Amino acid sequence: TLDIPELEKRLESLNLTVPLPSSDTAYILTKPLDIWRIYLADILGSLVDCSSQAAYKSIQWPNNIYNGDLAVVLPKLRPGSKAAEVAVDLAKKFPRDHPLFPLPFLEGVHFRIFLDAEPLTRLLLPFILDRKSTYGNDAALGFRNSSAPEEGRKKLVVEFSSPNITSEFQGKHLRSTILGAFVSRFHENMGWDVTKINYLGDWGKNIALLKVGWERFGNEAEYEANPIGHLLDVYRQIAEAFQPEEAASRQARDEAAKHGHDEGEAQAEIQNQGIFAERNAAFRKLEDGDEEAVTFWKRVRDVNIENYRDLYSQLGVKFDEYTGESQVSQETMAEIEQMLKEKEICKESAGAWVIHMQDIGLRAGTAIIRDRTGASMYLLRDLAAVLERSRKYEFDKMIIVAANDNGVHFTQLHHIFKALGMTELADKVQHLRFSEVSKMADKLGKGYKPQAIISHCEDAMEAALDADEEKASIFKGPVNGTKALCVAALLAQELSTRTTSAHSFDTSTMTAFKPGTGPELQHWYTKLCSILKDHPGSVELSDEDYEPLLEDEPANLLRTLAQYPEVTHATYQSLEPAAIVTYLSSVVELLAECLNNDDDGGADEAPAAGDVEDEATKPEGGAEAEASNPGEAKVEATEPEKKEVAFTPGQLVLFEATRVVLENGMKLLGITPYVSA
Ligand code: ARG
Repeated sequence: TLDIPELEKRLESLNLTVPLPSSDTAYILTKPLDIWRIYLADILGSLVDCSSQAAYKSIQWPNNIYNGDLAVVLPKLRPGSKAAEVAVDLAKKFPRDHPLFPLPFLEGVHFRIFLDAEPLTRLLLPFILDRKSTYGNDAALGFRNSSAPEEGRKKLVVEFSSPNITSEFQGKHLRSTILGAFVSRFHENMGWDVTKINYLGDWGKNIALLKVGWERFGNEAEYEANPIGHLLDVYRQIAEAFQPEEAASRQARDEAAKHGHDEGEAQAEIQNQGIFAERNAAFRKLEDGDEEAVTFWKRVRDVNIENYRDLYSQLGVKFDEYTGESQVSQETMAEIEQMLKEKEICKESAGAWVIHMQDIGLRAGTAIIRDRTGASMYLLRDLAAVLERSRKYEFDKMIIVAANDNGVHFTQLHHIFKALGMTELADKVQHLRFSEVSKMADKLGKGYKPQAIISHCEDAMEAALDADEEKASIFKGPVNGTKALCVAALLAQELSTRTTSAHSFDTSTMTAFKPGTGPELQHWYTKLCSILKDHPGSVELSDEDYEPLLEDEPANLLRTLAQYPEVTHATYQSLEPAAIVTYLSSVVELLAECLNNDDDGGADEAPAAGDVEDEATKPEGGAEAEASNPGEAKVEATEPEKKEVAFTPGQLVLFEATRVVLENGMKLLGITPYVSA
């Protein structure tokens, strides 16, 4: 294993002084670039006469190898002096012939460092091959150093997906599902103890309205044939019938407000009759535990969960708990209500209990806790739900993955807990928000079921493969890869969309074999696997083996592989998985350059190198034999064990390291790498 003594042995052989310069902040055993950072900090510290810890903090990571591998922010290194002066001074004193660093160069306020390929190959390749599945996905990143976790395992609750059972599984729920699963997986990798919960929208007036609808439009036979479709249909019909009443109620409220009358009273008059009254009575029954109402609700809930589960399993998502608004206990709600009343945070208004947000430090807004019929509201249920979860799981942190349309709600929730004196709890709850704008519903049409989401992507994937013979030959072999490609396509597109951007759900873009897509990642992954199949690349290399890796293309690929843990670490702070998708697509791009380069060049010594694309479809050995010695092609083809090695041992190790990084990244995104046989 590559521990500190082993690492120091390798550093020594590169003429570096050991023991390693010490540094509090370094993650040398998890982020290889930290080896360079601490040596650089050591140099800088002695040159500008500051502590190496301070120097370490001035070293940034440029996020793109064309801007260097590391960059020193000069104003940070020596605050108060002119960058140009510091640079001149540094350039004069910077050691010549340092085993790790060529001379840095100045750009703006940055001193850019480009790493020498030689030590990089010798340190990084063994590092990656030793760490394998933990490279960049290492628990130690979540703490400090693999040997000394800061504290014991921390407890995280992630709440995500949380669809509403009376309506379609919306685009925002799909985004929440995929983002939430990512956040959970990511934290698990980083050493957290994670509980995943689904907080279904399975309670409230909408369920009651569905019940009213069921009494009018429900049909057992139709339900049997197509439960979800029929329920959505029933809900649509009753919502339509209800619309005029809702409009009238809104109008009455607005009128009353205009004339300074009591808004509640005006609305009450309308709401005491018609579907309004039926719905409110149905919800009353449900909250009172009326048997018939509860049986109906349970039936609807169960059939929906069954449906969601099917979608989740296709996406590779699992929950530890299906809870929901219905599961919040009346007692906890009463407890919260009691506290709110005692502290005079909520007040009575026309028979309802409301909180005026100005009273608790927010600029504006009013939230209802209980309406005038005594029914619990979304906010009250959520306050109680959070309190219950904190007792049940004793979490250190809870991340709720829900769209921006819940933004005001969670801000209110946060302030209410603070007003109740529960600041610690309030601060443990994080709303991870994203744009709720989605084109998915437009694309799937009215009344779609959750399964339609996947089948829509699958159709597009099927079409993409039909149009591409080469890819079809790879992915439609003995193991049909269409599904794996389709799920990869969907996940990669979802996770590459920044949380602030709208959701496009563009199946033709996501299924294309283009940079940054899931299918493209799968494609290069299988390509690497087929190269490595007969030549596993995990051997100790000799000096000559390293030589070809010093060329630009392989060196750039290596420099990029060194960044993987930096990318995951940055994502740990930002929770923006888009950075990981972008990163993986740059790995693939540089890998392609390495393979293509071989294409033009060494036809003589590495005859098959250029034909990797087709390798999977060619008979074993045939291609190489033909290119190297046409006369003997037939003989060679029948003796596959004489097959020439198309790549040098150094290249194969580089490919293996690339495969490891691709696999780690894909798995982190939730993509199962496709293996053809
Ligand atoms: N069901 C809600 C919606 O569809 C999301 C739930 C968010 N989580 C919560 N604890 N309120 O918008």
